[in-house]
Amino acid sequence: MRGTFSAAAALLVNGASALPSYSYSPHTKIEAPTPAAPYYVSLGPRPYYLINNMTEGPLKKKLQSCENGPFAISSWSIGHRGGSVLQFPEETEEATFAGARMGAGVLECDVAFTSDLGLVCRHSQCDLHTTTNILLRPELARKCTVPFTPANRTSPANALCCTSDITTAEYKSLCGKQDGFNASAVNVRDYQSGTAKWRTELYDQCGTVQTLDGYIKLVNALPGYRNFTPELKTPPAQVPMPFKGYTQEQYARDLVNAFIKNGIDPSRVWLQSFLPADVFQWIKEFPVFGKQAVYLDEAGETPATLVTAIARLPSLKARGVNIVAPPIPYLLRAGGPNNDTIVPAAYGLAAKAAGLDIITWSFERSAPFAQIGASEYYYAPLVNLTNKFDGRLFEVIDVLAQQVGVVGLFSDWSAAVTYYANCLNVQGPNSAKYQAIKA
Ligand SMILES: *[C@@H]1O[C@H](CO)[C@@H](O)[C@H](O)[C@H]1NC(C)=O
Ligand SMILES: *[C@@H]1O[C@H](CO)[C@@H](O)[C@H](O)[C@H]1NC(C)=O
Ligand SMILES: *[C@@H]1O[C@H](CO)[C@@H](O)[C@H](O)[C@H]1NC(C)=O
Ligand SMILES: *[C@@H]1O[C@H](CO)[C@@H](O)[C@H](O)[C@H]1NC(C)=O
Ligand SMILES: *[C@@H]1O[C@H](CO)[C@@H](O)[C@H](O)[C@H]1NC(C)=O
Repeated sequence: MRGTFSAAAALLVNGASALPSYSYSPHTKIEAPTPAAPYYVSLGPRPYYLINNMTEGPLKKKLQSCENGPFAISSWSIGHRGGSVLQFPEETEEATFAGARMGAGVLECDVAFTSDLGLVCRHSQCDLHTTTNILLRPELARKCTVPFTPANRTSPANALCCTSDITTAEYKSLCGKQDGFNASAVNVRDYQSGTAKWRTELYDQCGTVQTLDGYIKLVNALPGYRNFTPELKTPPAQVPMPFKGYTQEQYARDLVNAFIKNGIDPSRVWLQSFLPADVFQWIKEFPVFGKQAVYLDEAGETPATLVTAIARLPSLKARGVNIVAPPIPYLLRAGGPNNDTIVPAAYGLAAKAAGLDIITWSFERSAPFAQIGASEYYYAPLVNLTNKFDGRLFEVIDVLAQQVGVVGLFSDWSAAVTYYANCLNVQGPNSAKYQAIKA
């Protein structure tokens, strides 16, 4: 696998008799490995559960043939919010360790800023009330943009706590928890629940929140060769920019500078943003980072805007964007006889025609496949698929890999994506390819 330990060496699942050795392709840089310390990728039972539930056929046979590994770290497997949100509190050190252990070769930190302009890993600038214990900390809860109000007969419980409401030191004193809230809560204790039924609160044991700097150091120190994918957040309306003079442009710069300051090779950094202006700024100011920056495309949420988003793709490429990352629903639909086949949708074909590579998000973020309804964002276009059961999730991965040709797949539980990447030998994004493109 690109940028991974050699499959033949340190990652044998059964027995560690082989001397560790390391292989890598020329466009990646490997930090000096520690041959004395083999690192075992561990996928757990979920990929096997999914494979057992597949209907017989060539894909099932192929996947079964890989059941004993070996499994290596793969940069095609991207850890969403750390890569283990199905069970671990998102964006925490514990989530990052778990995603890493499941072989995610690229690990995500969503980047928000605090009141003293520290950069921290949170999926939203204003989700502390649902992803941490801040409301149980009266001295910090008091500082929230919208302090807690209990539910009553006419209104649900309400709160809004932003990273920019508190200092970095205060932020670091919080505990990460599963994202959720209880709209009926009449007190802050009850407000803490609300985790989706298919996730778990088993690991809500004061998850260690991360700063951007801490995340960079942690991921860099992980065994194996890992890549970074930081996402610059767009602050919500409640945090108008500039914030006390702090502009979106400076925020975008500070994010890149954190990697430069830590001496991280740009080839290992896959910047992301939903704002085209952020990506264009990186292309201009930090071209080596910018050439492999990822434009997160969420501009096609209705059938009409999807047409516009598809039509815009060539102009993004013309401005130097090389990778787009739409959500999974832009890429798949039900098709074939009787709508029983998962097939590529128009966006992916258009992106490829425009010369853009595609990364997509996020696998394992949804209810069990049989339960998905039209309101299930990630699989909404598959709602009328004739047969839906969990085993078909490997078909989702397979169509994305083989027919859409994505170069990376975000997952909230990295095991199945790592399993697939190893078994089918699909490769993550290739930095050298983007760096070779003339501006
Ligand atoms: C997959 O699981 C579903 C229940 O979720 C079951 O109805 C179906 O028969 C299973 N399919 C296979 C091939 O095991
Ligand atoms: C219910 O809560 C809302 C919002 O907090 C508040 O505006 C309203 O006055 C409350 N109603 C009653 C009957 O307390
Ligand atoms: C939600 O809050 C209500 C009111 O505080 C409480 O009765 C209920 O048990 C809570 N639900 C959960 C799942 O905690
Ligand atoms: C497939 O689904 C589409 C969209 O829901 C529908 O218009 C079409 O009639 C279906 N085709 C078959 C063969 O069921
Ligand atoms: C699913 O089928 C329903 C009923 O035929 C239809 O209204 C809806 O548009 C279909 N959804 C998709 C995504 O094809």
